[in-house]
Amino acid sequence: MTSLRFWAVVPAAGIGERMQADRPKQYLQLDDKTVIEYTLQRLASHAQIAGIIVAISPEDTWWPSLSLSLNCPLHVVEGGAQRADSVLNALSALSDLVDDDPWVLVHDAARPCLRLTDVDQMLTSLSEHDVGGILGIPVNDTVKRTGLGNVITETVDRRNLWRAATPQMFHLRQLKSALEMAIEQHFPVTDEASAIELMGVKPMMVEGHSDNIKITVPQDLALASWFLQQQGEH
Ligand code: C5P
Repeated sequence: MTSLRFWAVVPAAGIGERMQADRPKQYLQLDDKTVIEYTLQRLASHAQIAGIIVAISPEDTWWPSLSLSLNCPLHVVEGGAQRADSVLNALSALSDLVDDDPWVLVHDAARPCLRLTDVDQMLTSLSEHDVGGILGIPVNDTVKRTGLGNVITETVDRRNLWRAATPQMFHLRQLKSALEMAIEQHFPVTDEASAIELMGVKPMMVEGHSDNIKITVPQDLALASWFLQQQGEH
């Protein structure tokens, strides 16, 4: 394992409409902690993570009620209208904090079940890579494309298809430039890799575990609780 240090950026400024809850999904209770507390503690407990920048909505009234005790420095910045804006704000703050061009791992606040062994796998696979890459899961289901009225028009070859997850690991300066360019071009950035790809460079895919779910709909909380239990969390 390399002795390089890595920073984590956690976009946590979403409102999570699909949860239909009384608060953003990262503040929902998951067993004895909130979702975001699990996420931040996982990242902070990794020995190679130098610090975390978290992006919080300016309208967020929940963040101050958390009682976090983390193993690494935590910096809070204001989030933006889109996920990419939140990540860019965090990267700008990080640029002011460091003199060099560290690797940054961007990880969704809503993914509390990240395995530290998957982070290890990323660091080992990507630390010597020119660009960086992301954690993903191979698509196992048969994939269909539909047209008007849900008529199936095509069975898509699933070989080489992946579901993109997080962390997404890139160098600070390149990721910042990529997001600035994508936002300026009004390119729909659904993950950091898509902004990097827009620059014409080629990130890597690292296979992760499918328990690294993003809390999106109400039933995901029970699933996350079960995954945490299987991982020996409680
Ligand atoms: O909504 P979605 O599940 O795609 O959000 C992924 C992550 O991005 C969440 O952790 C959410 O809080 C964050 N986000 C953000 N700023 C936004 C929208 C989403 O930090 N404007």
